[in-house]
Amino acid sequence: MNQPTATVGPAGHDTLTARTGGALRGAVTLPGDKSISHRAIMLGALAEGETTVAHLLEGEDLLRTVAAFRAMGVRIEREPDGLYRIQGVGLDGLAEPEEVLDMGNSGTAMRLLAGVLASQPFFAILTGDASLRQRPMGRIITPLSRMGARILSRSQGRAPLVIQGSELIPLDYQSPVASAQIKSAILLAALNTAGGSSVVEPQLSRDHTERMLAAFGAEVIRDGLRVTVEGWPTLTGQRLQVPGDISSAAFPLVAALLVPDSEVVLQGVGVNPTRVGLLELLSAMGGEIEWLNPRQQGGEPVADLRVRHAPLKGITVPPELIPRAIDEFPIFFVAAALAEGESLLAGAAELRVKESDRIHAMAVGLQALGAQITEQEDGVRIVGRPGGLAGGVSVDSFTDHRVAMSLLVAGLCCRQPVTVRRCANIQTSFPGFRGLMTDLGASVGADG
Ligand code: S3P
Repeated sequence: MNQPTATVGPAGHDTLTARTGGALRGAVTLPGDKSISHRAIMLGALAEGETTVAHLLEGEDLLRTVAAFRAMGVRIEREPDGLYRIQGVGLDGLAEPEEVLDMGNSGTAMRLLAGVLASQPFFAILTGDASLRQRPMGRIITPLSRMGARILSRSQGRAPLVIQGSELIPLDYQSPVASAQIKSAILLAALNTAGGSSVVEPQLSRDHTERMLAAFGAEVIRDGLRVTVEGWPTLTGQRLQVPGDISSAAFPLVAALLVPDSEVVLQGVGVNPTRVGLLELLSAMGGEIEWLNPRQQGGEPVADLRVRHAPLKGITVPPELIPRAIDEFPIFFVAAALAEGESLLAGAAELRVKESDRIHAMAVGLQALGAQITEQEDGVRIVGRPGGLAGGVSVDSFTDHRVAMSLLVAGLCCRQPVTVRRCANIQTSFPGFRGLMTDLGASVGADG
């Protein structure tokens, strides 16, 4: 039976202001990892039996995924303590949704769900907000169509997408981009397809889908950059505990590195090797980041990260590290803008097709704050100003959650306050951002 569509949480304050204040100090726990949370809902729905998920990210992006699976007949309940219980319907148990599925701001939700829907014997329409409707979907339409999926889109592969699911044939796909969303869309479609399907990436992207599929009981074979999934596994419900999101931890972490006298512990952060590119970059820049209590949590490595203020030096980003830090470049640019010397990033054109064009959005924002940052076709050149930035301006987030949070962290290191407009989308990935930063002692307020 269909349950009511989940409502999307409160929008939060749309305009926030950051000011230089005292040091950041304390220990905090981050909200659940966004990538793992989406996959927990999806695999829980496709498994047999009950899956429980503790510490699920309750951001808007996730609530969209929860709502979509409820609209396809999956019972998903939230207990008062925040534990989610998903009653799996199996690989062939989803029901045709009566409504258009609105994935909001979430590229992960739309692309992974397209993979799931491609093999389901029914009709579905996927749409999203203004940002998501501009993002490239051809990258998943091409491989899924090769498997036999019938997917229509607006011009240039833009959403809304119309998917008439059908029986698929297996695929051996060489992906032109190191993208976990492309890889995952194919692997999810492969679950309901006879035979083995493979994806080869130019570089390894985050591997949560592979790890979680194996944990649910699928046969997953990794051979270098090639991953193969056998169709029609029996997926069995699991008890999952989602690690803290390293992509959210990145904001208090860089803030603590930049603000003098700071010392912060970020507890229970996921440190999967395919996600720790920012930690490697910051350490190479002179940042002090200690990994405490390393442990395994449901097939994912987790640690507490202790960070102390340290002067940073500029760096040239090694190209092979880019996929492992792909969501952290906005906040990396902030660190580089306050480091001694020059930093260079090239080969990162993917940043132009995220929730905003992050190369442009960050260059415009940081320039307004007084940073020396030059936009290049597939990256940036930054000459740091370790003495701090001027600030004293109001800047736009381009409705991008990570741009908003990055510019607010930069505002903590400016001589004058920095106001960031259109911050409501922080709710998509990091509900509680302002409270967490304030608890650590940072001045991030809604008072303009
Ligand atoms: C994600 C993959 C990445 C990342 C996104 C989450 C995922 O996108 O930017 O925030 O959960 O698979 P791409 O696969 O497009 O690089």
